Amino acid sequence: MKTLALIGAQWGDEGKGKITDMLSRQVDYVVRFQGGNNAGHTIWVDGRKIVLHLVPSGILHPHCLSIVGHGVVLEPEAFLKEVAEVRQYIDVTKKNLLVSENTSVTTSWHKLIDAAREGQGPIKIGTTGKGIGPTYEDKIGRRGLRVRDLLDKDQLHARLKNTAGEKIFLLEKLYGIQAPTVEQETERLWGLGQQLKEFVGDAFGVLQEGLAAGKKALYEGAQGALLDVDYGTYPYVTSSSTTTSGVHTGAGTLRGTVDEVLGICKAYTTRVGEGPFPTELFDDVGKYIQATGKEFGATTGRVRRCGWLDLPLLRYAVQCSSLTSIALTKLDILSGMDVLKVCEAYEVDGKTFTTARPGMDLARVKPLYKDLRPFKDDFSGDKFSSELETYIAHIEKGLGIPVGIAAYGPDREQIKFRKSFF
Ligand code: GDP
Ligand code: IMO
Ligand code: MG
Repeated sequence: MKTLALIGAQWGDEGKGKITDMLSRQVDYVVRFQGGNNAGHTIWVDGRKIVLHLVPSGILHPHCLSIVGHGVVLEPEAFLKEVAEVRQYIDVTKKNLLVSENTSVTTSWHKLIDAAREGQGPIKIGTTGKGIGPTYEDKIGRRGLRVRDLLDKDQLHARLKNTAGEKIFLLEKLYGIQAPTVEQETERLWGLGQQLKEFVGDAFGVLQEGLAAGKKALYEGAQGALLDVDYGTYPYVTSSSTTTSGVHTGAGTLRGTVDEVLGICKAYTTRVGEGPFPTELFDDVGKYIQATGKEFGATTGRVRRCGWLDLPLLRYAVQCSSLTSIALTKLDILSGMDVLKVCEAYEVDGKTFTTARPGMDLARVKPLYKDLRPFKDDFSGDKFSSELETYIAHIEKGLGIPVGIAAYGPDREQIKFRKSFF
C-alpha cells in the first residue's frame, strides 16, 4: 500500500498522534490536510510527552517529510512556537517540515472573534477558541489570507485592508473588544512570515512527484468524523472536512486514490465541548473512565465527557469516512473494570436504528446496551485474554471491518499490530 488516511472515528482525541507516530516509521510523507491548532496530538516517547497541534505527527522520524497541506488553517505564531519546542528533540528544517504556500492563515482578529462569539447567543459550541471557524469562513468567503501572502509585505497589507474594516467594526462596536489595526497586524504577520519562510513551498507538487515515484504517504486527520462540518453533529462540529473527503481537497492525492482508511477509535467514547452524546455516563463509571483515562483536552485542558462505545455512531463513521480498518486505543483503561457495555442500537419513537444518520437528533435517542464479559489484561505478554479477544471480535463483527491495531498504553511502543499497513 502507498497511501493511508488516518481519521478520527469519534469526536476527536482517539489517539491519532500516537498511531501516526508509530506508522510514520514506514512512510515517506505524513500530511495534515485540515484543521488547525484546535488539534492536540499526544506522543509519549521514553517517558516524555510531546503534544503537537499544527506540526504533523511524523516529525519525530527524521527520514519522514511532514507536510502541512493547503486545507489546514495555520496560526503562524503558534506554529513557530511549536517548531521551537520540537527542536528540543529533533533538527527541523525544510527537509523534514514543509508548509504549503496556499495554507490559510489565522489572524489575531479571527481568534478574537471566535472567543467573543462563544459568549453570545443561545447556542454555545464550546470551541477551542483558536479562531478556526472564523478563518475557514474567510477562506470560503474568498477573503482569506494565505501563507504566500505573508511573504510579500504590500500584498499582505492590501489583503488585510480588504477585510479588516468589517472585523474591527464587529469586534469594537458589537463585542466591545479593542482590536489591532491593519498596520499593527501587517507588521506582526510580516515578522512571522519572515521566520516561517524557510518552511514554505509547493507542498502539492512535492507530494504529486513523490507519490508518482512510488513514495508512501500517511494523511493525518485532525478532530474526528463526528466533528466533520457536513457529516458531524452539526452545529456542534468544527469547520472543516475531517473525514476522508478532506484528504482530496486539503492535500491532494495521486489520481484520486487513498488506498486504505484507518479509523482511530477509543475503546469507549469521549467528547470535549458542547453537543449531544448518547452514551455519556454521568455516574461513577463515567468518572472512573475520565480519571483513569486522564481525559483532559490536550489543547484546552477541559475535562472530556466520557461514555461507553457507541456502535451506531461508529457504523456511521465507517460509512461516511470509508474506513477499511480500526485502531482501537485505550484498552488498558477498560481493563479491570467490573462492567463492560457497548451500545448496539438506538431507540427513537419506538423504532430501532443500528446506524446513526446525518441530521438524526442524537439528543433524543435511547441507547440500547449489550453487556459483555469484562477483561482483566495486564498486557505484559504477547497474547490478549479470551475476554478481550471477544470484545475486539464483537466490534469487528459489529462494524464489518478488522481491528488492525490495538493500543494499550500511551507510550509509542504500547501497541499491537494485527494487520500490516505498508
Ligand atoms: P489525538 O488528538 O487523537 O491525537 O489524541 P489526544 O492526544 O488528544 O488524546 C489521546 C490521549 O490518550 C493522549 O493523552 C495519549 O497519550 C493517550 N493514549 C493514546 N493511546 C493510548 C492507549 O492506548 N492507552 C492509554 N492509556 N493512553 C493512550
Ligand atoms: P484532535 O485533533 C476534540 C471540538 C471543540 C468544539 C468543536 C469546535 O485533538 O482530535 P473548534 O475550535 O474546532 O471550532 O471547536 O470541536 N474540537 C475537538 N475536540 N479533539 C480535537 O482535535 C478537537 N478540535 C476541535 O471542543 O466542541
Ligand atoms: Mg487531541
